[in-house]
Amino acid sequence: MITSVIFDLDGVIVFTDKFHYIAWKKIADELGIYFDETLNNRLRGVSRMDCLEILLENYTGRALSDGEKIALATRKNDYYRELLAGMTPGDVSDSVRDTLSELRRRGYLISIGSSSKNAKFILEKVKLADAFDAISDGNNIDNSKPNPEVFVKAANYLNQPCNRCLVVEDAEAGINAGKAAGMATVAIGDAATSHIADHDITQISDLLGILL
Ligand code: BG6
Ligand code: MG
Repeated sequence: MITSVIFDLDGVIVFTDKFHYIAWKKIADELGIYFDETLNNRLRGVSRMDCLEILLENYTGRALSDGEKIALATRKNDYYRELLAGMTPGDVSDSVRDTLSELRRRGYLISIGSSSKNAKFILEKVKLADAFDAISDGNNIDNSKPNPEVFVKAANYLNQPCNRCLVVEDAEAGINAGKAAGMATVAIGDAATSHIADHDITQISDLLGILL
C-alpha cells in the first residue's frame, strides 16, 4: 500500500529544467563545447559537479584543475540563479497545485526528493514551500541520483518505509534511484520515453488515476 509520494522538483513540479539547460549552454559556448538538448537530458537528476563532468566529456582544451571546475560550476549556478530570480507562483501550473492538494486530501504524505541545492529557494519563489510534508534535497545528501540516498532520506523524514513510497520523476537517473530505494516509480516527460518505470504518465494529474 502506498502512503507517500516523493516528487522530483526540476522538470516535474516546475520547469526549471529549461533554465538548467540555458545556463549550461552558456558555459558550453564559453568553452567551445558542443551541447544540445539531447545531451542535456543526461544532466537530469544529476548533481551540479557530475553535470559539469558530463559536459566536459566533449571538451578538447587543456586539463582543468579542481579549482577551475568549481569556478565553472559556480558560474553556471550564478547564471541559473539569475533565471530563477524571475520565477513567480504563476510558474506552477494549476494542474500541479490541484494534484498536490487532492493527494493530500486523499491522505497521502507528500515530499520533495531533489538533487538540487536550490530546491528551497525555488519552492519559496513559487510559494510552494509549505505545500510538502518534507523536503529532501541536494543539501542533505552525499550522493546524487541514481543513488537512492535523496529518496531514502525523504522516506525517513516522512517516517515511512521505502516500500510505501512512490517516486515521480522526469529523469532516468531518478527512476533508477527510486527503484534502488525499493520504491514504486512513475515517469513523466523525458523519463517516460524509456519505459523503465512502473507507470508512464503524460501529465501530473494522471497520478490521481494511479493513487486512488
Ligand atoms: C536536479 C536537476 O534537480 O538538480 C539537475 O535535474 C541539476 O539537472 C541538479 O544538476 C542539481 O541542481 P543545482 O540547482 O544544485 O545545481
Ligand atoms: Mg527532474
